[in-house]
Amino acid sequence: MLICIPDVLSKNDVADFRRIMAAEPWEDGRSTAGAQSAEVKNNGQLPPDGKTSRQLGERILRALAANTLFLSAAVPLHIFPPLFNRYVPGQFFGEHVDNCIRGDHLTGLRIRTDLSVTLFLSEPDEYDGGELVVNDYYGSHRVKLPAGHLVIYPSTSLHLVTPITRGARICSFFWLQSMIKDPLARRMTFDMDNAIQGLVHRLGRNDPEVRKLTNVYHNIVRYWAEV
Ligand code: NI
Repeated sequence: MLICIPDVLSKNDVADFRRIMAAEPWEDGRSTAGAQSAEVKNNGQLPPDGKTSRQLGERILRALAANTLFLSAAVPLHIFPPLFNRYVPGQFFGEHVDNCIRGDHLTGLRIRTDLSVTLFLSEPDEYDGGELVVNDYYGSHRVKLPAGHLVIYPSTSLHLVTPITRGARICSFFWLQSMIKDPLARRMTFDMDNAIQGLVHRLGRNDPEVRKLTNVYHNIVRYWAEV
């Protein structure tokens, strides 16, 4: 299941990120790739341990912590420090698998990658190609979002980025471990939360049935969550 979250970063934030990144060196993206993905990866990355990556990453994490749609969809336990990549003409990332476990040697954080996230920092009209293609049991999904929006997709999927033919595609990408490991359970809690939010809008938060459903929602998350 793919979930798109709009307006995680404002256009002003995106412009500020882009201004800061423009002054940085880009290194070979294979520095963070696993054995399989390194053979099909051709892009540039900001040095993952550099001050700029870490500071911009912190800003993204703060934005995510305040984004109720993201929190409801992902129910994150641990979020890997965000990385930043750039594709220019001729660059691409062939079909690959994301490593199941990722460790960050600076913080000691080690996570199971349940969900992969791409946060777009270029507008779609700034480049041609560069679509994220996620292949899952339901088919092949192509994603290209406005700057400041992100997509969450299962780390269990094979996925790729199509070759760039014009401009530059700049994104942040990262992984997270969800408190709800089971994808179906996570999907059901997200659907239920969405339905409750719709009822809250129509009936108010303290309608008796809304209150009961809210209680059930919290009990379901309590039942499934591992923290
Ligand atoms: Ni990947």
